[in-house]
Amino acid sequence: MFDTLHGIRRTHSCGVLRSQDAGREVALMGWVQRARDHGGLIFIDLRDRDGLTQAVFNPEVNPELHKKAGLLRDEYAVAVRGVVNLRPPDMVNPLLDTGEIEVLATELRLLNRSKTPPFELEDFRVDISEALRLRYRYLDLRRPSVMRHLLLRHRAAQVTRTFLNEQGFIEVETPILTRSTPEGARDYLVPSRVSKGLFYALPQSPQLFKQLLMMSGIDRYYQLCRCFRDEDLRADRQPEFTQIDLEMAFITEEDIFAVVEGLVSTLFAHILGVELPRPYPRLTFQESLDRFGLDRPDLRFGLELREVTDLAREADFRSFREVVDQGGIVKALCGPGLTKLPRKELDGLIDLAGVYGARGLAWVKVQPEGWQSPLAKYFPEGVKEAVNARLAARPGDLLLFVADAPPVANTALGQVRLHLGEREGLISPDAYSLVWVTDFPLLEYDPAEGRYAAMHHPFTAPREEDLPLLAADPRRVRARAYDLVLNGQEIGGGSIRNHRRDLQEAVFQTLGISTAEAEEKFGFLLEALEYGAPPHGGVAFGFDRLVAILAGVRSIREVIAFPKTQKAGCPLTRAPARVDPEQLLELGLKVEK
Ligand code: AMO
Repeated sequence: MFDTLHGIRRTHSCGVLRSQDAGREVALMGWVQRARDHGGLIFIDLRDRDGLTQAVFNPEVNPELHKKAGLLRDEYAVAVRGVVNLRPPDMVNPLLDTGEIEVLATELRLLNRSKTPPFELEDFRVDISEALRLRYRYLDLRRPSVMRHLLLRHRAAQVTRTFLNEQGFIEVETPILTRSTPEGARDYLVPSRVSKGLFYALPQSPQLFKQLLMMSGIDRYYQLCRCFRDEDLRADRQPEFTQIDLEMAFITEEDIFAVVEGLVSTLFAHILGVELPRPYPRLTFQESLDRFGLDRPDLRFGLELREVTDLAREADFRSFREVVDQGGIVKALCGPGLTKLPRKELDGLIDLAGVYGARGLAWVKVQPEGWQSPLAKYFPEGVKEAVNARLAARPGDLLLFVADAPPVANTALGQVRLHLGEREGLISPDAYSLVWVTDFPLLEYDPAEGRYAAMHHPFTAPREEDLPLLAADPRRVRARAYDLVLNGQEIGGGSIRNHRRDLQEAVFQTLGISTAEAEEKFGFLLEALEYGAPPHGGVAFGFDRLVAILAGVRSIREVIAFPKTQKAGCPLTRAPARVDPEQLLELGLKVEK
């Protein structure tokens, strides 16, 4: 009932035959994308990962074969032997790479049948729920637009490896069953059977191992590695994801920037044919907050924020005054020509600012006759003019203000800026903006915990000139850390590390990690630092994010073969799943209901 592959070998993929192949004998294999019976002739669109080729079955040439072709249904797996034929001019399909030809079938082998797929696999069907797509991911991946992402990902990985190999990097694998590496998320834990009650942690990143490799003399390490983080998931986050992870010894920031810019520009050139001018611009963390409100600025458009705290002081507007008196700031942005913004959209912006914690979003419509705004009566004329001048406002423009504690004012107005940038079509779809953000603070104060936390991770080195501040005024210590931001998304981050024990211990101390705790958790690192550890540093890229941007898709789930859902589940395998009571017993574990 089914045929075998004995005596037939594939000669071409379904995407490669062109007019110059006319007359060739070929054998193609793939799936039936569509079978059409056109008054006797049966046309089969045969699909594989490369493309589609049309095969034709003519009852007059071979009635038996034609009858067999008549039994084909969507997604049957088949092999077709035949002769390449030029299509008549009026049958040429310019939308298809193989559209100039067809294969006149001389043999058909039915390799397997298919149930009717739960959704159509033709590409224009995009209104399928993600849950269904992931449940049948193997079918979803057959769709060319989805397959394309995996092919692109593969190419990006190859370009990365080739580039780094040529730069003298060595790929080294690091353990998956290991101890916790603090990257700010929860760990996934794996219980040990051999040592009951003890746990491995899946690595949040290979951070400590790559540092140890620098102490080993590997000098230049890289790895396309999987990282595991139990954190709240969004479109751009997965519980397991892939990094391009790098580390270099005997270097400073500039060496890392040079390698990374070389890598990213090579990826863009090879995959998109886009030249990214180098060196990439740099902004300090503070400049980025000042001008864009966020530490991952999207430089594809303007609408920069300005601080107007000093001017707000000269006005009689109570909500601004109160914020300023309590040490808050007033930030503003000017939307050119946006007085036309409908009331509903303005309310939408106010809500958006609220989502990011702002108590309000004040607005001013700059009209030829002056300010039109609930604020107008509280601002003396001279102050209005000063505000207009600072924001380069002209009649027709809309001014938006947030007065709040600096982090809230910046974030809320920064998000309003992004929203307006998109809404007003200020972002060209094929613009790429890369920027290094540098000089991050070493520490963040965590009010809930009542102590400092590392902004990057605890192995990041402070700037040397800030070392005296470590004990005196930790908030002001800047880190030798950097992020690479592409179109407003953080695609990579890294730092120069503490390569001396005394430095690392001083940082632990500032973080409130006691000597005993440091010894217990990171004793192996501290010890290794005592054996001639070289100055070193590195960076890690979110490979999924990078590929998503290269592929022009929003969610990283689109570029991962078997991604997990928002609830960290896999609809296909139905992981996570229960285990047998015996397995738990063996591990010495009991599940509390
Ligand atoms: P960091 O934690 O900044 O640095 O991670 C580096 C990059 O990884 C990506 N990323 C993620 N991608 C998908 N899903 C996630 N859950 C996720 N979390 C992070 C981001 C991020 O920029 N060891 C350090 C690097 C170093 O210091 O060298 C680290 O892991 O794009």
